Amino acid sequence: MKYNIRITKTRESHLSEVDFNNIPFGRVFSDHMFVVDYRDGQWVDPRIEPFGRFSIHPAAMALHYGQAIFEGMKASKSNDGRPMLFRPEKHAQRINNSARRLCMPEIPEALFLEALHALVGLDSDWIPPQEGSALYIRPFMFANDEFIGVRPSENYKFFIITGPVGPYYPKPVSLLVDQKYARCAVHGGTGEAKAAGNYAGSLLPAKLAMQKGYDQVMWLDSNEFKYVQEVGTMNIFFVIDGKVFTPELDGGILPGITRDSILKIFREKGFQAEERRISIDEVAEAYKAGKLQEVFGAGTAAIVSHVSKISYGDMLMELPPVEARKFGELAKAEINGLRSGRIKDTHGWIVPVNSHVAVDA
Ligand SMILES: Cc1ncc(COP(=O)(O)O)c(C=O)c1O
Repeated sequence: MKYNIRITKTRESHLSEVDFNNIPFGRVFSDHMFVVDYRDGQWVDPRIEPFGRFSIHPAAMALHYGQAIFEGMKASKSNDGRPMLFRPEKHAQRINNSARRLCMPEIPEALFLEALHALVGLDSDWIPPQEGSALYIRPFMFANDEFIGVRPSENYKFFIITGPVGPYYPKPVSLLVDQKYARCAVHGGTGEAKAAGNYAGSLLPAKLAMQKGYDQVMWLDSNEFKYVQEVGTMNIFFVIDGKVFTPELDGGILPGITRDSILKIFREKGFQAEERRISIDEVAEAYKAGKLQEVFGAGTAAIVSHVSKISYGDMLMELPPVEARKFGELAKAEINGLRSGRIKDTHGWIVPVNSHVAVDA
């Protein structure tokens, strides 16, 4: 415990109002939030407060120039009821990679982790107990200089908010290969950062795909519109002729923590899992040859989202039924099993929440 995090507890918990069997995603927030300010070159006054609105100046720079980054992670309960985090240090490192790319101050990893443990520990009753359910955790940082003019801000705010989410049983998703728009992931761009603006740029193509009857966009590289990058807000995996492939991290792809975990799980189990450039034409050829066995998205929200079909130009690739998907199901079962404690964690990925790291005010 290095940073004396000041805690002001809520007088009015909203926990009893929540139906854990029916939680709308992204709309329910737990009782407390963590806040720390950056000014005069330092992070100051780390605190946990009752969750609530705050005021912001109309010229706050994040609102104009998009200097804003975030993370998405989950805490869950093991089968014996202990709150656990999944690879929290990876999220601390990734938010700092994002911060560097957007010319924002890094948040010390120890402060990020201490805040996370203190907040999740305090609101641990908000973690739904059912396997697959979790407390979604949203750390974020934004530029807070009250200034009009393009330059890096000197003042920032960093928050962590959380909210319970139910078990996520997504139906298989259909994809439209986009040959016109990229997700800001242009060469040398911000695709590898979790920058708010990347998501804003993805909204129009996603809306157009939905209007055509598809759930999500398959993003190609923006130079040649040839190589697969990601799908929606997930990394993507292909199983072709018994081998697993995922696009290599090329600077435009977000380095997903689920992606990394799945690659490690497959390799440990002796399967060949390759990271390399994969062209959409190669995928189409594999499909025509009857060798495209599985396609799935990987990310914190669903862990694995199977893909049902892919529309590419005039071609519609219809994939085998979910019952026939060996690799995607294995990855999902392993990660859920690790989170619940059913599968022994040999990687050090599961970190018990240590709620005694902060001091009461
Ligand atoms: C664009 C994008 N790609 C991939 C991912 C998956 O990353 P992770 O597995 O760390 O959730 C996410 C979600 O954070 C994302 O927003």
